[in-house]
Amino acid sequence: MADTTKTATLTLDGKTYELPVLKGTIGPDVIDIRKLYGEADVFTYDPGFTSTAATDSAITYIDGDKGELLYRGYPIEQLADQSHYLEVCYLLLYGELPDKAQMADFEMRVTKHTMVHEQMQYFFRGFRRDAHPMATMVGVVGAMSAFYHDSTDISDPWQREVAAIRMIAKLPTIAAMAYKYSVGQPFVYPKNALSYAGNFLNMCFAVPAEDYVVNPILEKAMDRIMMLHADHEQNASTSTVRLAGSSGANPFACIAAGIACLWGPAHGGANQACLEMLKEIGTVDRIPEYIAKAKDKNSGFRLMGFGHRVYKNFDPRAKVMKESADEVLDLLGIHNNPLLQVAKELERIALSDEYFISKKLYPNVDFYSGIILEAMGFPTSMFTPIFAISRTVGWISQWKEMIADPTQKIGRPRQLYIGQTRRDYQDVTSR
Ligand code: CMC
Repeated sequence: MADTTKTATLTLDGKTYELPVLKGTIGPDVIDIRKLYGEADVFTYDPGFTSTAATDSAITYIDGDKGELLYRGYPIEQLADQSHYLEVCYLLLYGELPDKAQMADFEMRVTKHTMVHEQMQYFFRGFRRDAHPMATMVGVVGAMSAFYHDSTDISDPWQREVAAIRMIAKLPTIAAMAYKYSVGQPFVYPKNALSYAGNFLNMCFAVPAEDYVVNPILEKAMDRIMMLHADHEQNASTSTVRLAGSSGANPFACIAAGIACLWGPAHGGANQACLEMLKEIGTVDRIPEYIAKAKDKNSGFRLMGFGHRVYKNFDPRAKVMKESADEVLDLLGIHNNPLLQVAKELERIALSDEYFISKKLYPNVDFYSGIILEAMGFPTSMFTPIFAISRTVGWISQWKEMIADPTQKIGRPRQLYIGQTRRDYQDVTSR
């Protein structure tokens, strides 16, 4: 963060305040209001943080107008085409692409940690079989701090590192166990000879009674889903992880908080909500009814999988995901699937309808990832857990960046109080 000589001037009640303007490497300048309350006795008001930078960060950059997403400066399209998920994890965590030896070492470290403590399966068995896998994950990931005490001391950089590797390695195992538990099948142990994505597919779809061979096209599509969801700067769940971490909470607790936030339908839960919406629409002839509902403010209905807080041009992840969707559907030969026909027609109408064009509501990444995951055979309830696996590296990279920052302090937003002013307590008989 470079200071500039530029300042902004605020005039309030006849007094003038000079506010420094900070410059990042790219992106809008930022007005530094840290001293404003002390000097002027006012807060700023920004519900939803639409205009507020809560931190500086060197990890991910989004230009919503251009539809650009950079991980450590590298465009997402190049990474999706030429890289793979574990290399992207290394990049996000350490800031640079690894050389061969660094990659091999990182792969070895992640692979060594893919199994979970054997006792954990008894913890799983305490959940109802019909529990949503996200509910199970919030609980089990939170409980990791009870299983891995030796990596909860956040003041020790080595323990922070081990916690990061443990979470990247174990989240797929935990998500697959949540799935297996929900369908009443035995847990499948990780197979370290497989790729990160391949291992996850194997843990979800293998059964002891027969061999499961990971299809390379599905493996690549899964790897891409993971790369595209790996980080997204200060989104709601990442901000949740940072806020939880700012109090000094252990990293497993912080990631569990991130998973809880991700679950909501306006965030990571959108992929499940989108597929459920497509199923509810059911047939192409019912689409106009749903488009009309989406345009009607009083209906409370939104087209799931459309729109984004930051991308007001297109979601660059959606472009790549659409390509993958086509590859997977070709491989599986399911072009005539009614759900897919509804999805394609909905996409076509929304892209040509004035309401959606004028409000810049494009299909987002979750619109296409849901279609792919459905085609792969995942139940909709597993869509958000897969997002959570993928985003873990982003959460942990942002958490590590925050903890290592010497200026870091506990997050504590202010408020505009609109409640009762001071009044005296009345005894119940006189109320
Ligand atoms: N369908 C219909 N209208 C919409 C939609 C939609 N999906 N999204 C936004 N609008 C309208 C909204 O009614 C508002 O209209 P007006 O200006 O007339 O009041 C306008 O577009 C702007 O909406 P907003 O709520 O101010 O936009 P936002 O930036 O706060 O919300 C969003 C972004 C993603 C929450 C929202 O677009 C949405 O709810 N989309 C559906 C859920 C979804 O797909 N979420 C996944 C996001 S991608 C994954 C991730 O990064 O988590």
